[in-house]
Amino acid sequence: MNQTIDKLYNNPDDKNIEDNFQFILFGGTGDLAHNKIIPAFYNLAAKDILPDHYTIIATGRRYDNKNEYLNNLYASLKNKKEKIDNRIWQSLTDHIEYFQLSFKEPDDFERLRQRLLEKSKREKISNRIFYLATAPKFFAEIAENLKEYNLLNAGFEHSDSRLVIEKPFGHDFESAQKLNNTLSNIFSEKNIFRIDHYLGKEMIQNIMVIRLSNPIFRALWNKEHIDNIQIYLNESEGVKDRGKYYDDTGVIKDMFQNHILQVLSLIAMEEPENLSAEEISAKKVEVFKELADNDLSDIDKHIVRGQYDSNTVNNEKIKAYREEDQIDPNSQTATFMALKLFLNNERWRDVPIYLKSGKRLNKKEAAIAVEFKDNFHSSYLQNQNLDSNLLLIKIQPVEGVSLRFNTRKPASNNKIIPVEMEFCQSCQQFFNSPENYEGLIYDMIAGDKTLFTSWKEVSYSWKFIDKIQQKCVDENIELHQYPALSEGPEAADKLLEADGRSWLDNE
Ligand code: BG6
Repeated sequence: MNQTIDKLYNNPDDKNIEDNFQFILFGGTGDLAHNKIIPAFYNLAAKDILPDHYTIIATGRRYDNKNEYLNNLYASLKNKKEKIDNRIWQSLTDHIEYFQLSFKEPDDFERLRQRLLEKSKREKISNRIFYLATAPKFFAEIAENLKEYNLLNAGFEHSDSRLVIEKPFGHDFESAQKLNNTLSNIFSEKNIFRIDHYLGKEMIQNIMVIRLSNPIFRALWNKEHIDNIQIYLNESEGVKDRGKYYDDTGVIKDMFQNHILQVLSLIAMEEPENLSAEEISAKKVEVFKELADNDLSDIDKHIVRGQYDSNTVNNEKIKAYREEDQIDPNSQTATFMALKLFLNNERWRDVPIYLKSGKRLNKKEAAIAVEFKDNFHSSYLQNQNLDSNLLLIKIQPVEGVSLRFNTRKPASNNKIIPVEMEFCQSCQQFFNSPENYEGLIYDMIAGDKTLFTSWKEVSYSWKFIDKIQQKCVDENIELHQYPALSEGPEAADKLLEADGRSWLDNE
């Protein structure tokens, strides 16, 4: 599907990412750099799939020198890994430069330009990537400075630089469009890599493979055979130290606008004619566009909003959302949302799609459940106990796929029982999945955009989310309180019970 899987599993010696790239990391001293980006580079170095020549220029204000920076990076890596191979760490740090820079200081951008020029005099650069891992409010400003101080072309005149941008991409359609207008004056769409780290997850990359490489699923992937689809991304953590960001964002923008809708688009899209990033994105855009066109007339019956309340679990008091740091004590922000929707197209008309995500639920678990219709052979129709076929794509914490089907109970009088055929990917040593950011970083260096979101995808997803937000306000949709570390608001169960169904994660 993309180069990642092939590279990471099959052919680690076949280095075809361009030699000598420069990776300029803004926010180099932040959480993301410490916990995701540099650890991902460590893993890529451990797999020996980075070229011999490359430089990571990590910019930040916090540390005075490279040693201090590296010591902190090392400490973060140690928290993540049982064992660090010092040889690999050393080989990686040989490629890391620390560059003290403040986004507010024009002189700092000028100094960075000089540094890039200097390096380019000594070595031919084949690829330059600017990675914005900063607070979103700095995205536009940094990009503008890159242009203004001519960092894109310093010593790199004949090729295009790439821009990698973290989420959130705007906070509604209008702000996303404004940001995109700024960025697209500087970088062309083909060079803008918008991150949605869910696309880096193994089982999400597996959706298309499962759908399209198995004739049994491919033939049945439509409204004639599928009864309903459920996607749930449940979290047990609260908002941790991100109260300020989260209270402005809520679950709808934090998880639905990006991760859940991305997963849905891969499940629901029409079959791409080829596996190019453009073609796959075009098919995903059709789904986003349909969502944006959804009239949401029954939204009050199809949506459940919730917010976690305090609870005591194992004698420990768990704070309510409104008691968390930096949260407005009267906050109306939803930390949970369940949504039922339909896609009005030939493939999916009348198939309910149930989406759910929340913080402080009883377990961290993400999966996609595809339940097939129970068109049993007439001779078995009388048997009330037959279970439908169910395909479960498990995203995390366990990665795998299971399929429920009916079989004869051994030594019984033709009693039928449901059994599960299970493939546990994360239990297999051989399949030791790379971390989300590993594949993403590899692909941005290789220039493969399959796992990144296009402007069209982002723009339609915001249009849909804006519409829901507005409806929630207009129709004064209730905010249910649910105890922290519970299954979420009962109203979410009732949403499915009304259709004679239940959430498959609660079974
Ligand atoms: C992030 C959200 O995008 O995804 C967080 O901002 C959320 O609030 C996280 O916790 C979930 O990611 P994962 O990979 O832990 O499921």
